[in-house]
Amino acid sequence: MGLFSRSSNKLLGIDISSSAVKLVELSRASVRGQWLYKVEAFATASIPEGIVESKRINEPGVVGDVIRDVVTRSGTSAKRAATALSGSSIISRVIQLPAGLSESEMEAMVALEADQYIPQHIDEVRYDFDIIGVNASNAESVDVLLAASRGDIVDDLMNALEVGGLVPEVVDAEPYSVEHCCQLLMQDDESVDMDANLVIADIGARTMDVHVLRHGNMVQTREYAIGGNQLTADIRKAYGLGYDEAERQKIQGSATVGYEEMVIQPFIKRLAQELRGALQIYQAKDEGASIGQIMLVGGSANLQGIAALVGHELALPVKAWDPFAKMQFAKKVNIDRLRAQAPALTVACGLALRGYI
Ligand SMILES: Nc1ncnc2c1ncn2[C@@H]1O[C@H](COP(=O)(O)OP(=O)(O)OP(=O)(O)O)[C@@H](O)[C@H]1O
Ligand SMILES: [Mg+2]
Repeated sequence: MGLFSRSSNKLLGIDISSSAVKLVELSRASVRGQWLYKVEAFATASIPEGIVESKRINEPGVVGDVIRDVVTRSGTSAKRAATALSGSSIISRVIQLPAGLSESEMEAMVALEADQYIPQHIDEVRYDFDIIGVNASNAESVDVLLAASRGDIVDDLMNALEVGGLVPEVVDAEPYSVEHCCQLLMQDDESVDMDANLVIADIGARTMDVHVLRHGNMVQTREYAIGGNQLTADIRKAYGLGYDEAERQKIQGSATVGYEEMVIQPFIKRLAQELRGALQIYQAKDEGASIGQIMLVGGSANLQGIAALVGHELALPVKAWDPFAKMQFAKKVNIDRLRAQAPALTVACGLALRGYI
């Protein structure tokens, strides 16, 4: 058996985003009492416009075909998958229930609660719960995390995975998969101060998800309608370019006169304004709480100079974070390609870690 034995818990992390399907497969081994992770496979493929909108799958068959393609290109033979619903399609609440209920009593009470949050018949709502522990102020109650979503949204996701030849085992919420990723990986990363309040800004194609972690636990998550597509649109407008050329200039940088002042800086200011708003909401709830660090993930974290520019706007330490920084890589993995895409694979990486929690 090799160093990284193929755990029966292993799950493929499949992130279906607005612009792409992303796959990550990890194995792990215990070395001197510490878990070491290894990237066994990864791949991404873009999804045509309009197929996933507002993080809802409109055409599960088309997404399924993209999943099948990603699985083939990754070279994985694994079939069991973990995937995620966006934070905005899941309602999660911490509810209090009497301690000492039997499992069936608890299920019945959770069903009643779930029914209150989603405006559909209870048979059409998918929900799950997790007992967190005894309530801090009432020892006769337990805190229970309840997550509920519309059934048709979950069914479309499952269908897409099945068309793609995978077996859906876990449906997580996107913010939780980021939380898992950070909890398991940041503690060994000396560039991250886990004792401070950490902000993770996932800047994707269409949205920026801003999560606040306190001692590694997520205490706030919000979604903002700004992402890399906006910057591409700004470049097109400023210089009258087609999509492909604007996207190329964005990724490679541009020497065009006024590019920094006319395009990059206004975009960064808008991003920083949304981030500032998210921080103010958090600090209003938790008075006096200071923010230690902002970590950027998502494909747009690759934008040249973005961390320094956002850091300058907010007067806070900002870094781009690579979830694979401390990992090993299987021989078949193209490390340069993985490094180039790493920040965009954070959700898929958190989902691949789901099997090890
Ligand atoms: N090197 C780069 N420089 C600048 N932007 C980049 C770079 N690489 C990727 N991007 C941008 O990152 C975005 C895609 O990021 P990501 O894959 O995280 O988005 P997504 O998860 O599909 O979107 P969303 O989370 O909004 O649904 C695109 O706008 C793309 O242009
Ligand atoms: Mg994303």
